[in-house]
Amino acid sequence: MSEDSKLRNLLIDAAERGVAYRESATERPVAPTAEAVAGAATFIEAMPLEGTDDEAVLAMLDEVGSPATMMMAGPRFFGFVIGGSLPVTVAANWLASAWDQNVVMHEITPATSTLERVAMDWMFELFGLPADAAAAFVTGATVANFTCLAAARNRIYSDIGWDVEGDGLIGAPPVTVIVSEEAHPTLLKALGLLGFGRNRVVRAAVDDQGRIDAGRFPEVNGPTIVCTQAGNINTGAFDPVGKICNLVKPKGAWVHVDGAFGLWAATSPDKSHLCSGFADADSWATDAHKWLNVPYDSGIAFVRDTAALKSAMSITAEYLMTDTEFRNPSDFTPELSRRARGVDVWAALKSMGRKGLAEMIDRCCSNARRFADGFRAAGFDVLNDVVLNQVLVSFGDDAMTRKTIEGIQEEGTCWCGVTVWQGKTAMRISVSNWSTTEKDVDRSLDAITAIAKKAKS
Ligand SMILES: Cc1ncc(COP(=O)(O)O)c(C=O)c1O
Repeated sequence: MSEDSKLRNLLIDAAERGVAYRESATERPVAPTAEAVAGAATFIEAMPLEGTDDEAVLAMLDEVGSPATMMMAGPRFFGFVIGGSLPVTVAANWLASAWDQNVVMHEITPATSTLERVAMDWMFELFGLPADAAAAFVTGATVANFTCLAAARNRIYSDIGWDVEGDGLIGAPPVTVIVSEEAHPTLLKALGLLGFGRNRVVRAAVDDQGRIDAGRFPEVNGPTIVCTQAGNINTGAFDPVGKICNLVKPKGAWVHVDGAFGLWAATSPDKSHLCSGFADADSWATDAHKWLNVPYDSGIAFVRDTAALKSAMSITAEYLMTDTEFRNPSDFTPELSRRARGVDVWAALKSMGRKGLAEMIDRCCSNARRFADGFRAAGFDVLNDVVLNQVLVSFGDDAMTRKTIEGIQEEGTCWCGVTVWQGKTAMRISVSNWSTTEKDVDRSLDAITAIAKKAKS
């Protein structure tokens, strides 16, 4: 067989296997069977001396790997905050993988750099952010938070005459970092990586939904970075970012918004009120692999002060075309080499348009409300105000709730995870997948209710 036909056959085989996998998404049990998980041990072997045919490599991946996956792409996976890649984004991602572009510099990757620029401009418009801000396509919200806070560190230190990029933090004047009592742990990790320390932070008090209470906000004096949140991982609640900006921006503080999934509420006319005042902040982190439903991994950092982000991230080298009139993507990201993540983001936005995106966000929120109504009707306690796509439910005491969740995960109709909210064990439901229908919610509610009742008896 010629090399060309080998390539063609292999890629078509991969596409057909991928299609069959996705076609099974609605009916396959969401969690893999114990037998399939045990089968994944087939992968464990010593590093082979001889190679294996490409076709056999792919067949092994599919035959052993596919059954052992969690069906996160399907309509009834409600754990964590997980989108299920839209078909067009999987297709775009496959094509972009075939292109194999290293999107570092515009001049050597003109197509993918242009697509990222377009996707970035569309997102500025969708989120109501300044058109001259900067954006970086990164792996996810953890690194988006890191990227935004690196820009914050640069700006805050340059305001007090300290070159933090050149001289580091040893011996630097102190900067106060204020975070919510409900900050996501990855935000604290980003602060640790930046040398601010995970624990050396001032905590802002929150209310019963996990929102920062602006009335009890800590006093701001001196160089300060304030980290707020759009979309609490448990309740979906939003910090009052506009009010916090009014309090702290006159004092020169940098306000950051961790909007891993919540920022997408700004794209729905029905939900955008939750993001009011967000445009006054200085930086915003979000994920595309959550609510935009693109393949992993994909997050975006937005920074108002382009110069601060560029100072923190850009490098020069004789062999790189850094002196250019174009926007070099790597001037804004922690990585130099990386995949062209913006292609999947562009494909999602282009295929849905403003209207389709708002419809998807609204559909997820209304399905979350449908879950909450169903739980209340069945006599279970819903622990949060369902303002977005997150629902917390308790099935009795902590042990009963945990037993019910284990039963749900084992039964396979849907998959939901556990959390502890304000001292009470709860089941978390996050409706983030574009393909979840009312029927999926009703089918899941029936299964959950039956399992919870059986656990009680
Ligand atoms: C509010 C918030 N911030 C940050 C993250 C981390 O996101 P990622 O896992 O994409 O890095 C999450 C994840 O759920 C989140 O909900």
